[in-house]
Amino acid sequence: MVGFCSFALLSLAACLAAANGLSARAKAAGKLYFGSATDNPELSDSAYVNILSNSEDFGQITPGNSMKWDSVEPSRDNFNFAGGDVVANLAAQNGQLLRCHTLVWHSQLPSWVSDGNFDNATLISIMENHITQTMTHFKGKCLHWDVVNEALNEDGTYRDSVFYRTIGEAYIPIAFKVAAAADPDAKLYYNDYNIEHAGAKATGAQRIVKLIQSYGGRIDGVGLQGHLIVGSVGSSAALAGNLNDFTSLGVEVAYTELDIRTTTPASSSALQQQATDYASVVSACKTVPECVGITIWDWTDKYSWIPSVFPGEGAALPWDENYQKKPAYNAILNAWGNGSGDGTPTSSTTTDPTDTSPAETVPHWGQCGGNGYTGPTTCEAPYECTYLNDWYWQCL
Ligand SMILES: *[C@@H]1O[C@H](CO)[C@@H](O)[C@H](O)[C@H]1NC(C)=O
Ligand SMILES: *[C@@H]1O[C@H](CO)[C@@H](O)[C@H](O)[C@H]1NC(C)=O
Repeated sequence: MVGFCSFALLSLAACLAAANGLSARAKAAGKLYFGSATDNPELSDSAYVNILSNSEDFGQITPGNSMKWDSVEPSRDNFNFAGGDVVANLAAQNGQLLRCHTLVWHSQLPSWVSDGNFDNATLISIMENHITQTMTHFKGKCLHWDVVNEALNEDGTYRDSVFYRTIGEAYIPIAFKVAAAADPDAKLYYNDYNIEHAGAKATGAQRIVKLIQSYGGRIDGVGLQGHLIVGSVGSSAALAGNLNDFTSLGVEVAYTELDIRTTTPASSSALQQQATDYASVVSACKTVPECVGITIWDWTDKYSWIPSVFPGEGAALPWDENYQKKPAYNAILNAWGNGSGDGTPTSSTTTDPTDTSPAETVPHWGQCGGNGYTGPTTCEAPYECTYLNDWYWQCL
């Protein structure tokens, strides 16, 4: 038991009854937080801020943009922390943890860096200065720092960023070394997307962990962003197996930018599947002790980044545009459990009550085998049940 549940005067029942929000339930399951991204534009919306400030639901926040390089150091050695301070101050005021995001990334990088034609030594010193100044400013406030973000292509090779082109893969361990010196108390993370399932890119991220370690550096965690698609999330066992591939390297893990999108307007069956998919991610984190928490990439569809980047898609978050909770909300609560059960999602979140046909064959992308799997093993034609790892066979 953690937090308020350790007070001896509270009865066990009162303690469990009090653990009602997404983050309270995460803590009851032994995690540090459930949280949300946010940023300055939406903080002018007071109804939004009221919900975000409920630390029973959100025990942690991440600034979506205001700590990125283009916000923090728009011109060389000219630092502006005002936007990031707003989010850091809100976290402190609400008693929420802060994930700080992000120091070295190819995107939202000002052109003075990307097009500066700096030589190796100069670019290293620019990167080191950026990391040191930024981390020193926020020192003591950041539970985690995403030190390097999205360094990989989809096939697991290095992305062709100005850092990789100029410095080589050494830019990654160099960044982590400077970060470790700048704020010894912040956990240092590598953060990327499409590493939630076993495959070439996840393997690439594991190579990065080993690279940093081979330089004698400190990396504490890997952030799996979790920008997922309704119906393609896979089983919690497969997700957990992939988390374990990271934790076996001696790092912790977190889902750092979770959202699960669908075509819009979302059908009610899509929202049910979305609830199942959120529950799968939560269950995976719950079963892996080194998974410290989950952050959704804002909490309401009103401020989601998805529709502007993927036209015709969205509805990716547990609250709709009018701040009404969707089925995903209760699915997340149930998947965390309340500290007294095993967190198995209730059947209402995993089964479409209108679907009475027996699930004899598994559809394309579905799980069809793996350790602990007990469901059907025959794939719908023309797909074949294919070994991905010990925990996951998939219809491909
Ligand atoms: C906790 O969850 C279990 C299983 O879902 C349920 O039986 C129990 O009533 C819940 N307790 C509280 C206090 O919510
Ligand atoms: C740039 O310098 C660093 C530090 O000396 C070194 O590790 C790296 O290999 C160099 N990169 C290139 C492309 O020469």
